[in-house]
Amino acid sequence: MERSNPKNRASVVEVAGQTFRLSPWYGRSGAVLLGVPPYLWMKERIWIDRARTAAAGKGYSGFLIQATSANQRETLESYGFRRVDELFVLFRSMALPPLEVSRQPRDLRFRRAREVDVAPVIAVDNRCFDAFWMMNTGALAEATMATPRSRFRVLTAGDEERVIGYAIFGLGAGEGYLQRIAVDPEWRGKGLATLMIADGLRWAKRWRARRVGVNTQQSNMAALQLYLKLGFVLEPEGIAIYSWEDG
Ligand SMILES: CC(C)(COP(=O)(O)OP(=O)(O)OC[C@H]1O[C@@H](n2cnc3c(N)ncnc32)[C@H](O)[C@@H]1OP(=O)(O)O)[C@@H](O)C(=O)NCCC(=O)NCCS
Repeated sequence: MERSNPKNRASVVEVAGQTFRLSPWYGRSGAVLLGVPPYLWMKERIWIDRARTAAAGKGYSGFLIQATSANQRETLESYGFRRVDELFVLFRSMALPPLEVSRQPRDLRFRRAREVDVAPVIAVDNRCFDAFWMMNTGALAEATMATPRSRFRVLTAGDEERVIGYAIFGLGAGEGYLQRIAVDPEWRGKGLATLMIADGLRWAKRWRARRVGVNTQQSNMAALQLYLKLGFVLEPEGIAIYSWEDG
């Protein structure tokens, strides 16, 4: 499994006395998300250049960075970065009552993901997301390992246990995160995402999370409607993703 290949794993680099996380991006772009804290790059662009040089040295050829506030966005635009996507950020308070879900269909199983599920999960994912957001093994490993605890479960159909959906929740610093969820197109509209989210929320509650967050592309109306229906509330500020091609 490629998860053990260091090229596909997040890494931490030290540059000029600062440490940055380099996280492999989704898709097939060979891009990396530069984890340079805004307080550094808001003052001097050179911090982004340093991180980019370190990332290029590790073989990455596309570079992404995130901004939240209007000031941060203006700064990245003044540096010549191009905004490539915009995410909503939502949270669901654990003070809300648990979700009521209908019973899981009898021919489906919802169980912990195993090594053998990685390829089928990526196949489902690739049918569910556009090229920029498609999961690859590096991004999958990042989603499951980015937080101190995580819950990675798959939904399977039939005796052959065909993977038809999956969900990854993470937990850290008293907060839960819905890292990723997808249901194969032919299985949508049956309450399966709701079922998987209800499970993740119960898990986060057991670990005493105060709230559970999720990000979603602003263009993804199905996901937005799903989260709003389940009690997630939009934050005033989203996340913008900026890109810079090498050269
Ligand atoms: C978003 C997604 C996970 C929903 O899966 P699902 O199993 O069909 O969702 P559910 O059946 O549990 O839907 C629950 C509610 O979500 C909302 N919803 C789901 N799909 C919707 C759609 N296409 N349009 C509008 N609302 C939608 C509805 O409010 C729905 O309730 P209703 O059936 O009473 O109307 C699925 O469409 C998917 O995999 N999309 C691609 C991957 C993705 O976008 N993941 C989330 C990224 S952050």
